Amino acid sequence: MIQSRSVERLIEGVNTSDGAGVKLTRVLTGKLQRRLDPFLMLDAFGSDDPDDYIAGFPDHPHRGFETVTYMLSGRMRHRDSSGHEGLLESGSVQWMVAGSGVVHSEIPEQKDGVMEGFQLWLNLPKDHKMAKPWYQDYPNTAIPEYVSSEGVKVRVIAGSSNGVFGVVSREITEPLYLDIHLPAGACFYTDIAATHNAFIYVYRGAVSVADTQVDSRRMGILKNDGDGVTLHAASQARLILIAGKPLAEPIVQYGPFVMNTQQEIHQALDDFRNGRFS
Ligand code: FE2
Repeated sequence: MIQSRSVERLIEGVNTSDGAGVKLTRVLTGKLQRRLDPFLMLDAFGSDDPDDYIAGFPDHPHRGFETVTYMLSGRMRHRDSSGHEGLLESGSVQWMVAGSGVVHSEIPEQKDGVMEGFQLWLNLPKDHKMAKPWYQDYPNTAIPEYVSSEGVKVRVIAGSSNGVFGVVSREITEPLYLDIHLPAGACFYTDIAATHNAFIYVYRGAVSVADTQVDSRRMGILKNDGDGVTLHAASQARLILIAGKPLAEPIVQYGPFVMNTQQEIHQALDDFRNGRFS
């Protein structure tokens, strides 16, 4: 018997800036890390004013988790300390396992136009926090898509939905990451493992989940009360749906380092300051 989840809580993101002054909305903030374990952060950025994004994110480190960047619109150049380089364009995804340590930059490669997308931080389990760093860019055309009988277009970035598998699958946290486009009047259902924490973030229009309407630029945390979710859209809507298996391990964060203990944070700072990141 399929039980569809309801909305536990609506969250309005916090407007902030990061990097060299990029304006963004922090949707998943530190105080939601425990509730939305294994996810640590979700930033939404979207602007057609170059002053809001042009400075980008110059060289900065990460250790202990994964970053997933999904570009809806725009071009961003990525370079890291191991000499890797890539260009993220509209519709593409970069999946990076920072593991033991990466120093990289993320710089817009456009002087005008719209820059819009998301960066999600996914925690690594204790035993994998010091794994070898890894990343992969997936162009727009590599992201599997399907269209439901009601005309709902679903882009499957990670995990699987209605039998369609995404470009990324991760064993321990089992992330599900969908970009869902609903035409007016459409209804959509996908499974979500009952044990997994899940949320949606609406970026166009509004959708209803059971009796709750989730408006544009709002996150709806889904209650852990079912093994799937049903979405309705009265008019056109777009949203991302994210779910994952909780790690239930201690979370100690200091900026771009997320470890299990304070001692490991001190070690991360020491390693970074002494050039021991790759
Ligand atoms: Fe970064």
